[in-house]
Amino acid sequence: MRLDKLLNTKDFRKAAKRALPAPMFHYLDGGADDEWTLAESTDAFARYRLLPEYLKDLSVVDTSTRVLGAELKSPLILSPTGMNRLFHHEREPAVARAAAKHGLMYSLSTLGTTSMEDVAATSTGPKMYQIYVHKDRGLTMEFVERAKASGYDALCLTVDMVAGGNRERDMRTGFTMPPRLTLSSLGSFITHPKWTFNLLRNSDFRLANVAHRQDALAGGAMGVIGYVNSQFDHSVTWGDAAKVIEAWGGPFAIKGILSPADAVRAHDAGATAVMISNHGGRQLDGAAAPIDCVAPMRDAVGDKMELIVDGGVRRGSHVVKALALGANAVSFGRPYLYALATAGEAGVDRMLGLMTSEIQRSMALSGCASVADCGRHLIMEPGN
Ligand code: FNR
Repeated sequence: MRLDKLLNTKDFRKAAKRALPAPMFHYLDGGADDEWTLAESTDAFARYRLLPEYLKDLSVVDTSTRVLGAELKSPLILSPTGMNRLFHHEREPAVARAAAKHGLMYSLSTLGTTSMEDVAATSTGPKMYQIYVHKDRGLTMEFVERAKASGYDALCLTVDMVAGGNRERDMRTGFTMPPRLTLSSLGSFITHPKWTFNLLRNSDFRLANVAHRQDALAGGAMGVIGYVNSQFDHSVTWGDAAKVIEAWGGPFAIKGILSPADAVRAHDAGATAVMISNHGGRQLDGAAAPIDCVAPMRDAVGDKMELIVDGGVRRGSHVVKALALGANAVSFGRPYLYALATAGEAGVDRMLGLMTSEIQRSMALSGCASVADCGRHLIMEPGN
């Protein structure tokens, strides 16, 4: 695979499709129900048209910003994604190292296949740890303490997993975690020998952050949705969130919120930031696109909170639109996972390099010399 031939996120998606057996690719790529929200999250960006302004001094375009207490070279965060071992044997540390190289924040999921200590040991860059509240409540406070001890900059609580999303692609392909050879998936494994060879070389698919408490589950094959439904605590409330935020005592994001009223609740609970997200269209189909929620949320919370647009971001111009509408930064998941599946760390490095230069170019072409310059004046009002 000549990485220099891959020029954008769509190219990486095609390359990932070639690299991964069908159950893995569709788990990565798919969404819930009819996948309307999945498509809408990217399509909605096209409804915002940019009005660039010129003849300003744009000899230096500074894309750096400060989000969740960390200095970032670009307003881009790598969203937490579970089980990266499914996509490449180099797993989470490869992504964390590539993010650090580009000065971006990396987020590790509770459902990662690498422990938070191992990620911290491999990457010096800004890092966030993402929590799901398990029925085993002791785990949450344990995560808080371990993340503090390992030097994570921020913590994030994902709130939109109150039930497993209906992912029909996974049912069709017979996706399991860890992967299992079945009659229906056999052909797909045989036609992807490189991935299958690496499976034989390194087949540790344990959920490294929870394995010590849930050996039986983490070791046995089961659907992700089965795990979510049996292990996550679905009685969590804003009061519980406030306790975790207080115990952490540092920058904290609530991830999975679309409603301005919930953003105000997140602020009242003590959160620093909201990751405006529909979980990449993997949960409630019909949920709004994150980009459509930025302006109303900014109006609701004023300058009191940081807003991060999570989902559907595929181009530098999408980042400029998000900033212009009131976001502090964006985050994405699938683009870096496509790159990981394509070529491990080298793939993620290439993809992040492309994306950060797109952001810089789009800012320059919009007439913005800094992130602060990206204001609502850039967005053409509907009907104009
Ligand atoms: C996710 N996402 C996710 N979110 C989270 O809070 N914890 C998790 O463990 C996961 N796992 C996960 C796995 C995979 C394969 C995907 C694609 C996504 C959601 C993720 O953080 C983010 O919200 C979406 O990926 C954003 O949408 P885009 O950028 O993929 O369009």
